[in-house]
Amino acid sequence: MRFGVLTGGGDCPGLNGVIRAVVRKGIRDYGYEFVGFRDGWKGPLEGLTMPLDRNAIRGILPRGGTILGSSRTNPFKIDGGVEKIQENLKKMGIDALIAIGGEDTLGVATKLDALGVKVIGVPKTIDNDLSNTDYTFGFDTSVNIAVDAIDRLHTTAGSHHRALVVEVMGRHAGWIALHSGIAGGATCILIPEIKFSTDKVAAWVNSRFEDGFAPIIVIAEGAIPQDGDMKIKDQTLDAFGHVKLSGIGDWLAQEIEAKTGKETRTVVLGHIQRGGSPTAFDRVLSTRFGLHAITAAHEGDWGKMVALHGTNIARVPLASATGELKLVDPALYAEAEVFFG
Ligand code: F6P
Repeated sequence: MRFGVLTGGGDCPGLNGVIRAVVRKGIRDYGYEFVGFRDGWKGPLEGLTMPLDRNAIRGILPRGGTILGSSRTNPFKIDGGVEKIQENLKKMGIDALIAIGGEDTLGVATKLDALGVKVIGVPKTIDNDLSNTDYTFGFDTSVNIAVDAIDRLHTTAGSHHRALVVEVMGRHAGWIALHSGIAGGATCILIPEIKFSTDKVAAWVNSRFEDGFAPIIVIAEGAIPQDGDMKIKDQTLDAFGHVKLSGIGDWLAQEIEAKTGKETRTVVLGHIQRGGSPTAFDRVLSTRFGLHAITAAHEGDWGKMVALHGTNIARVPLASATGELKLVDPALYAEAEVFFG
């Protein structure tokens, strides 16, 4: 059999680990051939490929990003896009696809599966917001990057007796903020799922200063104040209808200064959270996902996504992962709240 492999959406550490595992097991155990599609769904749409043999994947496990490139191309938003993909797959003799992506990329895979394209999905996103899998790879790396930043910010904030707001990624789900905030000992954590009160934040900041420490406020880019709106950097929509966020950190710093009189600065971690080498956890998870994805394909279990359930790799219907986002459970947030202030 001949497979096309693609990575779509925002890149994340661990993508290369999946590609490597799919190709290594596919060649060694099943004698399959692979073609790399460049830049997400743009690859099969425009016939952009690269060789994906044993040589192409040598040494890529510790490398961040994706050797295939990525994009947010949505073939369902392009006239004749889906037909073009089907035609290109036929022309190139590709029997099936391994699609590695988040909500958007796997949403396309779900629709293509319904149209009869043979596809297996692999979940990735630093946001950890895909349903029906306990974790996605990339999340652990980005949380560790954020925690390292928070640890560093504690010492400089303390030296200058100022508050520091750390804005992390997370449009609709606050997983990165929650985990990095707990691990980094944040003064409070603000997530998109629960609107926050600036008065409460100011009170936590004051009480932290009163205890003799400098506050660190961790906020997700999609967090919303009770008396305001989500802060949008750029109104332009991408092919999946997303705006560009960021700005809530700066806005909150001004509010804190106004309400407490304490100097407050903001650090926006941005794409640093998506770059660089994956953690050992993400290397192992991405490797296991890749191995199980090619096995699912070998067994003809099309339309499935590999998923982490506890410590086992399960197979779930693609649609069950992309239908709705996995948001932070209020009970988990309540655990973090014990440490606010
Ligand atoms: O979906 C992953 C993610 O990193 C989000 O957390 C973030 O909002 C978005 O991608 C940023 O996307 P881009 O790099 O395309 O601006």
